[in-house]
Amino acid sequence: MELKDLLLNLKMIMFGGKGGVGKTTCASSSAIWAAEHGRNTLIISTDPAHSLGDSLGVELPPGVPTPIEGISNLTALEIDPKANMAEFQGITSVNPMEEMGLSGMGDMPLMEDMQEFSSLSPPGIDEALAFAKVLEFIETEHDYDLIVFDTAPTGHTLRFLSLPETLSGWIGKLLKLKLKIGKLFGAVKRMFTGGEKKKDNTLELLEKLNSSILNARDDLINPNLNSFVIVMISEEMAIAETGRLLNELVKYNIPVSNIVVNQLYEDTRELCDFCKSRREMQQRNLSKIKDIFGEKLGKILIEIPLFKEEIREYYKLKELGKFLINKD
Ligand SMILES: Nc1ncnc2c1ncn2[C@@H]1O[C@H](COP(=O)(O)OP(=O)(O)O)[C@@H](O)[C@H]1O
Ligand SMILES: [Mg+2]
Repeated sequence: MELKDLLLNLKMIMFGGKGGVGKTTCASSSAIWAAEHGRNTLIISTDPAHSLGDSLGVELPPGVPTPIEGISNLTALEIDPKANMAEFQGITSVNPMEEMGLSGMGDMPLMEDMQEFSSLSPPGIDEALAFAKVLEFIETEHDYDLIVFDTAPTGHTLRFLSLPETLSGWIGKLLKLKLKIGKLFGAVKRMFTGGEKKKDNTLELLEKLNSSILNARDDLINPNLNSFVIVMISEEMAIAETGRLLNELVKYNIPVSNIVVNQLYEDTRELCDFCKSRREMQQRNLSKIKDIFGEKLGKILIEIPLFKEEIREYYKLKELGKFLINKD
């Protein structure tokens, strides 16, 4: 399906690719187009290095969906990886001993388990949970017709798609550990705390989150609801990277029908030697891109020229939209 039809019909569109290729620009331009074609649109940046506000030329307070002035139907959100973490303290800063009021018992035999558990919280857990919260959000009732994702560079986003397995793993371990601790220290703990039980609903929250992620994933793999648009530039390295990204997306069953080839030098008479040489390089790679991703893999390629100026704010984003969405 053409990008235009995706924007008019789907529930979600995710823009992804290497850093600096134009993901945010294409996502913003698409979101504006969809909003102006009557779809109540939410654009979400899940890239921790946010630039969505800069692209749209507005201030976006972290974690707050902000209606964009002057464009009806458009709301933008930069997720705040730190925001929702309080409720998951139990897994983001794992120290069950402390949590249970038993700190200072470092020499106890359970330390090994604790360490194993701590090592399950890899760096980036905050981001993973923030992304999970976004998935949970899209599964709850809301008024948006379309959610456009401006995602983080390649590897990052894909890691999140395997989140259900990761979370199930954590839940299992957490349960086991809590059981062990409970058995061994239950009596001691009651002595220390005077029988008072600290309420811990981390597991419940995790289980709820896990089930909404599983539901969200059903939507992410449904071509009638979601499509991933790869943004790339016309370089050898980008071809290799796009190939890997496509493989990963196939592995997770995420539908991909469009690939944007951005920042192409146009054929004009004024090209200097430097630009001419860059154009030749790009054209060589573009034929490979057409052959591999177009002919062989049947993807729709969208070619966008390199603009003389930076693409920022409404008018420029609309101008880019002419190449990205409506070529006629
Ligand atoms: N076709 C283009 N012509 C000129 N500048 C572009 C084009 N596409 C993107 N840019 C500029 O390139 C920079 C990086 O784009 P951005 O969308 O932020 O990339 P990403 O989100 O992939 O990191 C921005 O300053 C943007 O204005
Ligand atoms: Mg970006």
